[in-house]
Amino acid sequence: MRILLKPHCLPLFIVALISLSRPCFYSCGEDSFQFDFHRGSVYGRLMTTTYRRPYFGVLNERNKLILMSGSLSEYEYGDGSQLRLDDAPAPVGPTVVDVDDFGAKADGSDDSKAFKEAWEIACKSYQGAIMLVPKNKIYHLKPVDFSGPCNSPLIFKIFGTIKATVHHSDYTSRRWLYFDNVQNLRVEGGGIINGNGRTWWLNSSYIASSVVFQPCSEAPTAVTFSQCSNLKLARLRIENSQQMHLSFSKCINVKVFNLFVIAPGNSPNTDGIHVTETHNIHIKNCVIRTGDDCISIVSGSQNVRATGITCGPGHGISIGSLGAGNSSGYVSNVIVNRATLSRTTNGVRIKTWQGGSGYAKNIKFQNIMMHNVSNPIIIDQYYCDHHQSPCPKQVSAVQVSNVVYKNIRGTSASNVALKFNCSQTHPCQEIYLQNVAIKSSQEDKEEHIAEASCSNIRLSYRGDVSPPC
Ligand SMILES: *[C@@H]1O[C@H](CO)[C@@H](O)[C@H](O)[C@H]1NC(C)=O
Ligand SMILES: *[C@@H]1O[C@H](CO)[C@@H](O)[C@H](O)[C@H]1NC(C)=O
Ligand SMILES: *[C@@H]1O[C@H](CO)[C@@H](O)[C@H](O)[C@H]1NC(C)=O
Ligand SMILES: *[C@@H]1O[C@H](CO)[C@@H](O)[C@H](O)[C@H]1NC(C)=O
Repeated sequence: MRILLKPHCLPLFIVALISLSRPCFYSCGEDSFQFDFHRGSVYGRLMTTTYRRPYFGVLNERNKLILMSGSLSEYEYGDGSQLRLDDAPAPVGPTVVDVDDFGAKADGSDDSKAFKEAWEIACKSYQGAIMLVPKNKIYHLKPVDFSGPCNSPLIFKIFGTIKATVHHSDYTSRRWLYFDNVQNLRVEGGGIINGNGRTWWLNSSYIASSVVFQPCSEAPTAVTFSQCSNLKLARLRIENSQQMHLSFSKCINVKVFNLFVIAPGNSPNTDGIHVTETHNIHIKNCVIRTGDDCISIVSGSQNVRATGITCGPGHGISIGSLGAGNSSGYVSNVIVNRATLSRTTNGVRIKTWQGGSGYAKNIKFQNIMMHNVSNPIIIDQYYCDHHQSPCPKQVSAVQVSNVVYKNIRGTSASNVALKFNCSQTHPCQEIYLQNVAIKSSQEDKEEHIAEASCSNIRLSYRGDVSPPC
């Protein structure tokens, strides 16, 4: 349906539209403006015949106008003269875009289309927008791309639950919720993002067959932020991901606060928070209990801060792996401050492959409590994830340097509390241990005395360190 009207009719039209109960046909004669109802009359857009303007209004299912953009103050005609719409309603605060107004049903059917359309509207707003996912409802989504750039800052408010489709054929790539190239985005609200990953875990040969290990490399990441800047993610529960829960890739200036990231300890490859090629990220006050790394920081990342992290079960906090397949890996300026790790397979780990190049440097792990962690402190420059054949010996390596371990205490599930297996050709340099006290979790038995295993490492001690190299 199409509404045509002349510019001088527009203020009247807007007023009329607000009070409309049904969409009507307006015509003031000339084909100067069109109000175009698209896709089931859910929303409208305003344009001149010669000049297309962004969305200015949204009609909900009941044909009520729920969005007024402030971008209407100037319009240009084909002849170059301008229209000022001083009578148009002044923009007031950010636009609220409720997925329910776009046909989301939360009844178990697919709500992807409503989310996509709501995102499009929110992203096109010039006055800021709040995309709303109402509480006490469960929305089912297929993979959805939330792409930018957007015209103004956005808040994605998740009060309810977003749940992933279980049909593997719905996935055409390894992603489910994918935020791409969005600036000034906040995602928050206290709701739940559920990757519904059980079918992926069961089908993974990692679980299906304990004999031949094949990582389930084809499963999607639940939530990906790619090339986003000035991003804030807070107060959400992200659970039961198909594979990784949350990935930041090529992002700049990111805050991740107060998340619960939860999946069973035996769910395969379900990393909590994965950081790749990302600069300036602060992960704060997060509880992460999954089947793989709580936090993994890989190549191209710098200025990474993790503060107040509760981790376990899982594989601990990892830098790397770096240098796989003879690649170059670069990670620098990482600080992990105030963390508690419980029953994880590793505590704080740096892992690199033989044959790689690059560096992992300027890294600080401090104020960390370990409870029955299998490898509380570990640097492994001989990391090898090929379970069929051992990795061949190679000369080049990723250089590990300037790593501080300070105020770390607790218990180790294995007898080796500190393990530095550094490269013969590229020894670990400037490694500092200060006030470290880790004992065996079974120290009552004489054969379980915690020890340190250290090779090819240049080390300095400050304060008390137990066990020493
Ligand atoms: C599960 O894995 C098998 C073999 O790897 C594959 O053929 C099948 O399509 C997978 N099932 C699903 C639902 O992805
Ligand atoms: C890595 O380099 C070594 C030595 O040059 C070579 O033997 C090996 O095939 C390379 N591996 C890969 C995956 O390229
Ligand atoms: C420590 O963890 C191991 C398994 O890694 C378990 O067998 C043991 O009972 C745990 N000990 C304590 C004291 O929790
Ligand atoms: C270091 O790693 C290599 C290769 O995996 C292994 O052969 C060696 O035993 C390890 N050294 C220590 C001290 O664990």
